[in-house]
Parts: sequence; structure tokens; C-alpha cells
Amino acid sequence: MNTEELQQLFSVPVIFDKNIAITSNASEHINQSQTNDSFSEKWVKLDKESSTSELEIFQKNWLLDLYGFKTVEGLREFLKDKKVIIDAGCGLGYKSAWLAELAPHATVFGIDFSDAAHIAAKRYEEIPNVFFFKGDIANLPFKKESLDFILCDQVIHHTENPQQTYTHLASLLTPNGKFACYVYAKKAIPRELLDDYFRTATHSLSHEEMWKFSDQLTELGKTLSELNVKFTSPDIPALGIKGGEYDIQRFIYWNFLKCFYHPKWTKTENDSCNFDWYSPSNAERFSPEEYKQWAYVLNLKIDFFRSEEAAHTSIVSK
Ligand SMILES: C[S@@+](CC[C@H](N)C(=O)[O-])C[C@H]1O[C@@H](n2cnc3c(N)ncnc32)[C@H](O)[C@@H]1O
Repeated sequence: MNTEELQQLFSVPVIFDKNIAITSNASEHINQSQTNDSFSEKWVKLDKESSTSELEIFQKNWLLDLYGFKTVEGLREFLKDKKVIIDAGCGLGYKSAWLAELAPHATVFGIDFSDAAHIAAKRYEEIPNVFFFKGDIANLPFKKESLDFILCDQVIHHTENPQQTYTHLASLLTPNGKFACYVYAKKAIPRELLDDYFRTATHSLSHEEMWKFSDQLTELGKTLSELNVKFTSPDIPALGIKGGEYDIQRFIYWNFLKCFYHPKWTKTENDSCNFDWYSPSNAERFSPEEYKQWAYVLNLKIDFFRSEEAAHTSIVSK
């Protein structure tokens, strides 16, 4: 796509410096601003201290599962007729780059409100069909009905008003466009209470203290996983705890405290996963019904829906 064709996609002039444009540098909302700062801190550290390769492999495989693509070929086939694609809330941009590689006929835009947008633009400057924006996905410069595929993976719950962001993104879909989106799921009551308490309490912590806290959570997750203990929990509906056989780390993780640990990930990758949970102010959780309601009120067709402990994912169309 040449510069003129690119500009045709926008309702206002957008100025690119090589492969990046800044549509908004800061948020007027305190919580979104803190959320951006928290993700800038996470991505800059992760980019500096870790290769992120294991995390990327894990995340790509998870994406294939979460949206029902199953295989890379399934995703490639899905992307065949998509010409303009966005990766809304792209972080370090590896999914934007992946989509650009799987759909070489398409133009892909990765957008992030944190400093990650700059890192992503630098990382993938050699890829001709991917561009980045630093800005708010709740207020994008695209014309209505200009996007064939919107991926908003693990992001919308971090925006100031998730339902409003969803409505805005849906308005940008072409008549045959598809919108894949992931929202955090509400979990058991003890976990929800602790999450809310800690997310508020951690606001008075510096980034340094927050990393220390994340390190302690990784350590706890590691210790519990290495116990390798399985047990059967009863159903405790009053607390939202589902019965069944659990590994002890997973039981504590899902029902009481996020203490993430993945043996293949580097320490920084593991810590950043815990940091990412407790540090941002904006991190709402939803029931499946609450999430589906966003699509219903816009008369969108739900082509795919999946709920798991962590999240609800869907692909919708007009
Ligand atoms: C958990 S990360 C997910 C990153 C990426 N989608 C992935 O799956 O690896 C959430 C990202 O959303 C970005 N974000 C949060 N609110 C945003 C907003 N209003 N506009 C654009 N990006 C936002 C954050 O800066 C962060 O990079």
C-alpha cells in the first residue's frame, strides 16, 4: 500500500515517521494513564532483559486455540481475504508481525498506548506491510467500515471503558469484517476480592517495589508447582470454587492468588506476567453473559465463542 492508499483509510491526516504514527501520546484519564505507564515499564524491561521467544511461542499457540483457528494453516486460511487488519493493543508487536507474515497481501496496523509501540516499530521496521500507531484503541483515526479484521487480544479490559472501546472498534468493521476479542473472565470470589484489593494497594508501590512483589509471586508459583501435588477439591458454589482434581498451584492460582509460573519462561517473562496482572489500574473482569451483551446490543453475529478460566474469547461479524 503506498502513502496515498494508506491515507485513504483515515478520516483525519495521519503522519508517519517511517513505520510509526503517533495518534495520541497521553490519556486524560488517570487510570488509563497509569495503565499505559505500567505497560511501558513492563515492555521496556522485557524487551531489554529477555528474548521473549518462549512467551511468543506460547502466546501464538494460545491464540490459535482461543479463537478456534486450531492451526497456523487455519489462521492463514482465515486471513486470505482480509486486506486491512489491526492488532489493537499490540504490545511488542509480535502478533502484528505474525499476521503480516501470514497475510502478505494485507496491510497490518499494530496499535498500543504504551511505549511498546516504539519498540515494536523498531523491531519490525523491515516488514513492509506492518505499521504501528502509538495511541488509544478507543479512538482510532480509521474511517468507519475500513477494517477487514480486528484482533484485540488481551487488551480491551485495560481500556478506560471496555464496552465503549468495543463499540468503537466494531464501527470500523467492513460489512464482511471479523472482530476477534478477548476479555478477562470473573473468577472465584476469594481471587476477585484479593485481586481488587491488591490492584488498589499496589498503586502506592513504585515500579521497583512492584517488580519485587512480582518476583515473590513467581517464586511462590514455582515452589507450589514443583510440589507436584494433586488433590480433589469439593464444589464450593458459595465461593465460586469449582470442584474437581487440581494441581495445588493451579487451585491457588485460579481461586485465591495469581502466582504465575511457567518452567520454560525466563524469570523476566514470568515476573512480567505477574506484574502485568497487578500493576495496571484498568483490568476489569466480566461474566460470559456480560461480554455477549456487548455484541447483542450492536446486533453483531457471534461466529465463535469460548469461555475458559482466564478469559472469554469471541469472533463476531456484522
Ligand atoms: C496484556 S497486553 C497484551 C499485548 C498483546 N495483545 C499480546 O497479546 O501480547 C495489553 C496491551 O494493551 C495496551 N493497552 C491498554 N489500553 C490501551 C488503549 N486504550 N489503547 C491502546 N493500547 C492499550 C497496553 O499498553 C498493553 O501493551
